[in-house]
Parts: sequence; C-alpha cells; structure tokens
Amino acid sequence: MTTAIIGIGNIGGAVARHLVAGGESVVLAATDQSHVEALAGQLGPLARAASVEDAIADGDAVVFAVWLDTMRELIPQHARLLEGKVVVDPSNPIGFDENGQPFRTLPEGQSAGSVVAALLPAGAHYVKAFGTLGAGALAAGARREPRRAVLFYATDDDTAAATIERLVRTAGFDPVKAGGVADAGRIEVPGGDLYQQGLNGPLVDLDQARAMLGEMPA
Ligand SMILES: NC(=O)c1ccc[n+]([C@@H]2O[C@H](COP(=O)([O-])OP(=O)(O)OC[C@H]3O[C@@H](n4cnc5c(N)ncnc54)[C@H](OP(=O)(O)O)[C@@H]3O)[C@@H](O)[C@H]2O)c1
Repeated sequence: MTTAIIGIGNIGGAVARHLVAGGESVVLAATDQSHVEALAGQLGPLARAASVEDAIADGDAVVFAVWLDTMRELIPQHARLLEGKVVVDPSNPIGFDENGQPFRTLPEGQSAGSVVAALLPAGAHYVKAFGTLGAGALAAGARREPRRAVLFYATDDDTAAATIERLVRTAGFDPVKAGGVADAGRIEVPGGDLYQQGLNGPLVDLDQARAMLGEMPA
C-alpha cells in the first residue's frame, strides 16, 4: 500500500516520517519540489517525490496536509482522481491574525470536516484524522511507551475507518473513533473538546480516550 501526502509542512512532514518509520510507502507532493525531493531523500527508499497529480493517482490513501483554503482549490481540481480513494483530512478551521493570534475561520458549529467532505466526489472515502494534535505533539508522540498515545478520527465510511486504523497504528499511535463526520468538530481546533484536551493539553492513551468518549475500557 502507498499513502500520498500532499503538503509536507508541520503535519505532512511528521506523518510522512512516522509512516515510513512504520514501514509504509509514501509518495510526497507540495508546491516546492526541491523540499519534496529533499524530504524523500532523507526518508529513504520507502519515500518518493511526485507532482500533486501523480501523488494522488499513485496513493491508495491521500492525506491532504494543507490548509483548508488550499484543499478548497486542490480537491475540485483533482476530483476525478479521488474517486475510490481514502481521503484523510487533518484540517482545522483556524487562521492567525497579524499578531499571531488564532481565530476561527468558519462559523460556530460548522466543522472543517463537513466542508472538506462536501467537496469530495461521491466515490471517495472520507476520514478526518492526523490533525487532532498540535504539530509538535504529533511529531514527538509516536511510539510512546509504555502506553501509546491516541489519535482520534471521525468518519461515516467503513473503508476509510479500516484504512485510518491501519495508518494510525503504522504511524505509532492507537486509533480511536470519535464519531462520524457530524462529530468532526469535536477533534478540531478551535473549540473541539477532544482536540488535545482543548489545545496543547496532555496526550491520552486508549483507556483515557475511551473514558473521554464515555466508553468502558477494553
Ligand atoms: N500546525 C499544526 O499544529 C496543526 C495541527 C493540527 C492540524 N493542522 C492542520 O494541518 C494542515 C497543515 O498544517 P501545517 O501546519 O502542516 O501547514 P504548513 O506547515 O504551512 O504546510 C503546508 C504544506 O502545504 C503545501 N502546499 C501549500 N499549497 C499547496 C498546493 N497548492 N499544492 C500542494 N501543496 C501545497 C506547502 O508546500 P510548500 O511549502 O512547498 O509551499 C506545505 O508543505 C492545516 O489544515 C492545519 O489546519 C495543523
């Protein structure tokens, strides 16, 4: 299996490193091809650089590790290629003002997940994931011992759920389903109660995550 990662910044770079460390093949794309080739070179034989179009075509799953506005451009451009693919969306409805202060870019109650899911062709398998921790926590939190840290995900789609469970484990975390697309806002920031316990909170393990969802420990 190959995972395409579109965008190799804070989130895409960490996801690429963690997946390769877990043995997954990745195909990377961004706007600056020299960055993409440099990262692919660092990651070794499981990683290669491609154009956005070729990466999407070659990926079984496609992680759009770009900002929501970029997704609004890229998804319609490549809609035909996304038919049948698992589309992983880490986006948050967040922007930063000139003083670096965060603000919400969507109306209260509207999640980035609902926006992205609505952009996709009917045959794509949508899941919200890999954006539920701050970038530093995501980069540092993989393969935690003695208990792995959890990454929440949200989807209505069984194919997407099976794929993201595999990818989250490969990346060195335990996957926990927070709900369907209607619950995506719970794992987004600002406002999501399951997004790293507000913002920059502690990482949680499987039992803590299940308790947060009101479930019994396994
Ligand atoms: N940063 C966080 O703590 C955090 C936490 C959770 C979720 N998220 C979400 O994750 C997403 C990515 O955030 P980030 O912090 O990783 O962003 P970032 O560091 O700014 O990286 C964005 C990436 O997108 C690429 N890109 C921009 N326009 C593109 C285009 N038209 N085609 C292909 N690639 C393009 C950039 O490539 P070039 O550099 O080559 O232009 C860059 O690699 C956002 O939706 C954000 O809300 C971020």
